[in-house]
Amino acid sequence: MRIEVAGAQAVPDSRGKSTVEVTLSAGALKATASVPSGKSTGAHEAKELRDVDGGVSAALAHVTGEIARALRARDFSSLHELDAFLIELDGTPDKSRLGANAILAVSIAAARLFAQEEGVPLWRHLANAYGTTPRAPHLFVNVMNGGAHADFRLPFQEHILVVGEATATESIATAERAFGALGEMLRAELGIEDLPMGDEGGYSPTFRELARPFELLAELVDAHANTAIAIDAAANELRAGEGYHLDRDYMPTELLARYVELVETFPIHSIEDPFAETDPESFAALTEAIGARVLVVGDDLTVTNPARIQSAISAHSINAVLIKPNQIGTVSEAAEAVRKTHAAGWATICSHRSGETDDTFIADFAYGMGAHGIKAGGFGQRQRREKYERLREIEQELGA
Ligand code: PGA
Ligand code: ZN
Repeated sequence: MRIEVAGAQAVPDSRGKSTVEVTLSAGALKATASVPSGKSTGAHEAKELRDVDGGVSAALAHVTGEIARALRARDFSSLHELDAFLIELDGTPDKSRLGANAILAVSIAAARLFAQEEGVPLWRHLANAYGTTPRAPHLFVNVMNGGAHADFRLPFQEHILVVGEATATESIATAERAFGALGEMLRAELGIEDLPMGDEGGYSPTFRELARPFELLAELVDAHANTAIAIDAAANELRAGEGYHLDRDYMPTELLARYVELVETFPIHSIEDPFAETDPESFAALTEAIGARVLVVGDDLTVTNPARIQSAISAHSINAVLIKPNQIGTVSEAAEAVRKTHAAGWATICSHRSGETDDTFIADFAYGMGAHGIKAGGFGQRQRREKYERLREIEQELGA
């Protein structure tokens, strides 16, 4: 396939920050992709290229200049081949020269071109290309936003309702019902009509007691079959000296004991980034303590990087991995991160970022790669609802 860059522009993400949108063409085929942007980022993520004022004009110039010229010069027979070419063209270990935002937008748009060429939906093309078995992911719906996504009104960044019905379509229906019910519970408890909302389309209440959001979620779980609780502590953001600051200061062993207590009290399915990326020993100790019952998920720890996932596998520091394509910068490397994780017998959860666009790639990726879960945010924001809408469409395509 001979690929042309048909356009590249800055579009606002859900926080109003500029991000990269790219349109590619190949003969009569045309595809567009835009990439998200995180706020609670890991130190080892691939680097987005940002201008000094936060814009993306340098990244866009690379797409329409150097990348466009390089693509025009040759044919590509697969996404894998194209991604390998982009990695080599960039030449840095973290994609900092051309920008992971520029490279990923090209990679995702190209994935859509290859799917069109094959004449199948994107999720099916990904499954065919990477040899995976599509399946309905559990929904990890961030219903109460805290941490860096909501001015730390709640210390943990994400209080999540996990929903695992037989199909994603049924899971979405259950999650929507539960989200509405939680809104009523919060309005009654806080005595306010207009609930504050966080960056990821979930409610963002303030509670003095660390356990209170868990009590509310446990009520929700009782009332809705096939649901459970998850959190993303995003503990990089809670690091304070040798320990962590939440509702009070904790040394790592005290925080570990608090997690064990929460797991013993509430129906908790998974805990993401319970400790900081600089504290892998605490991850391993927690996995040893609760790993038989609960998923201990690496996000900032592993940053979708196959080499860092390999280190986590060797150290038994976690037993599940969050997958964010923009942490690594190409679709093929994100797929390799999934393959490596699944080969270890671990679960993957494919995830959006806190700054999202209307692009629904992550829905196709989660479904096509056969991931255990998808994190796509709360129903209070259009960019999050689009992902759920795409999951519904995928199940129509699956039936067709
Ligand atoms: P981010 O948050 O997109 O701001 O990094 C999401 C997460 O930590 O999972
Ligand atoms: Zn996270």
